[in-house]
Amino acid sequence: MPDGTARVRAPALAVRAVHVAATVAAMGALAVPGTVRHRLRGGREAARAHLYRRLTALLMALGPAFVKAGQVLGTRRDVLPAGLCDELSRLQDSVAPVSPAETRRALREVYARAPCAGGADGGPGRGARDPGRAGAPPFAEFDERAVAAGSVACVHAAALPGGRRVAVKLRRPGIERVMRDDLALIRAGARVAARVPPFRGMPVTEVVDNMCEAVLGQLDFTREAASLSRLRDTLAPVPRVWVPRVHPDACRPACIVMDFIPDLDIGTAAGCPPAMRRRFAESALTAVYQMLFVTGFVHCDMHPGNLYFTRDGQVVVLDAGFSVQLTDRLRRLFAEFFLNMATGRGRRCAEIVVESSVGVRPDADLEGFLVRMADLVERSHGLPAREFSLIAFAAEMFDLQRRFGIHAAAELIFPLLSLLVIEGAVRDLDPGIDFQETAKPVLNRGLFGARAG
Ligand SMILES: Nc1ncnc2c1ncn2[C@@H]1O[C@H](COP(=O)(O)OP(=O)(O)O)[C@@H](O)[C@H]1O
Ligand SMILES: [Mg+2]
Repeated sequence: MPDGTARVRAPALAVRAVHVAATVAAMGALAVPGTVRHRLRGGREAARAHLYRRLTALLMALGPAFVKAGQVLGTRRDVLPAGLCDELSRLQDSVAPVSPAETRRALREVYARAPCAGGADGGPGRGARDPGRAGAPPFAEFDERAVAAGSVACVHAAALPGGRRVAVKLRRPGIERVMRDDLALIRAGARVAARVPPFRGMPVTEVVDNMCEAVLGQLDFTREAASLSRLRDTLAPVPRVWVPRVHPDACRPACIVMDFIPDLDIGTAAGCPPAMRRRFAESALTAVYQMLFVTGFVHCDMHPGNLYFTRDGQVVVLDAGFSVQLTDRLRRLFAEFFLNMATGRGRRCAEIVVESSVGVRPDADLEGFLVRMADLVERSHGLPAREFSLIAFAAEMFDLQRRFGIHAAAELIFPLLSLLVIEGAVRDLDPGIDFQETAKPVLNRGLFGARAG
C-alpha cells in the first residue's frame, strides 16, 4: 500500500470519521421513507433505483475522494449491478473553482519548489531548459479564472513566453491530504463491510483497494504527465486523433502544462452531419483498439469529459490520470480473444478466458464453462452489428466467470471496462457501427504487425 495512510494525523482523521459516519447515518435514515414509498408504488426495481440515487447523492455530499471513488466503482460492471453503475457513472465533480487569489498563491508555491525528477519518458521536470526564471511560474500570461474545475484540479488557459497557448492543470491546494485521509477511511470501512453477511465472500477489499489505487493515481501529476505523453505516442498512428502535447520542462509535481486545445465543447458532435459523426465513431473506437491491442497502454476513463470532438473532425483525448499498461502477454491474449470473437471461434475464446485468469476455483466445472462461453461467443458473432452489444456480452461473460469461479486478472478488467465506457458514446455517434469489423485491421497490427511504443 502506498505511503500516506500511516502518516495521517490521527485526531483529524477521527473527527473526519465521525463526520462521515454522521452524514452516512443521517442520509441513510432520510433514504428509508422514500425507499419504502417507491417499494409500495413501483415495486422492488423502483425501490432499488431510488436507493442507488440516494447513494450517489451521499457520495456527492461526502466530498471529492468519495466522488472519485464512486466514479471508479461505477466502471466495475463485472462486480456491481448495472443499475448502480449507471447511476454512479452520472457522478460529476460539481465543485467550485479555486479563487483567483488562492490560484495565484498555489501557482507561486508550485514553482517555488524544485522541479520533479523526470518521468519515465524523459518526462516532467528535467529542468535543463526551464522556460521561465527558476522559482517563478514560466508563463507570459495566465488566466486565473479556470476553464474547468474538477475535484482534484482546475485547468487554466495560459501562454508560454514564446506565445504558445497552453493549458495548465493545477492541483487543488491541500487536496492530497484530504483525499488520502478519506481513502484511508474508505479502506477501513471496506475491511469492516467485508465481515458482515451481505458482503461476506465478495471481493470487497480487493475491489476497494483497486479503486483506491486508481484514485490515488489521479493525484500523482508526475505520473499523469508522463502518461499523457505516452498516450500521445500510442495514438499518434491513429488518424484524426489528437492528444495534447505535454511541455515537460514547465511541469511540476502538482501542475501539468500541455498544449491548449481551443473550443472544446461536449455538444459539438451532436451538431455535426451524420457522415462526420460516423468518422468520429470510427476514430474513437480505433483509438481504443490501438491502446488495447497494439501498445497495451490503455486510458481507462474515456467518459465525455475526457473525450471531445472538434468541428474540424478531430477526436480529442484528455486526462490520462487513470491509465494502465497491460503486460505483453495479456495484451496478446486480449487481442487473440477479439480476433477469435470476430471470426466466431468460440471455443478458442473460452480457452483464452481461462488462460488469462489469475485463478480457477478448485471445484470449478471447467468443461461446463468452456461450452457455455463458446456458445456465448458464437451467438454474439451471429448477430447483426446493430444488435451486438459489448455491455450485454461482457455482462453475460462476467456472470459465467462468477458462476464457474474463473477469476479474471484485475489488470485486464479496467482496460476491458474502458471499452464498455465508450460503447454508448460510439453508438450514439453511429448506431450501425460494427465493433468487430472495426477491430480487425488493428488486431492484425497488434498480433502480426510491428509493435508500436
Ligand atoms: N489541453 C487542454 N486544452 C483545453 N482544455 C482542456 C485541456 N485539458 C483539459 N481541459 C479542460 O479541462 C477539463 C478537465 O480536464 P481533465 O484533465 O479531464 O481534469 P480532471 O482530472 O479534473 O477530469 C476538460 O474536460 C477540458 O474541458
Ligand atoms: Mg477528466
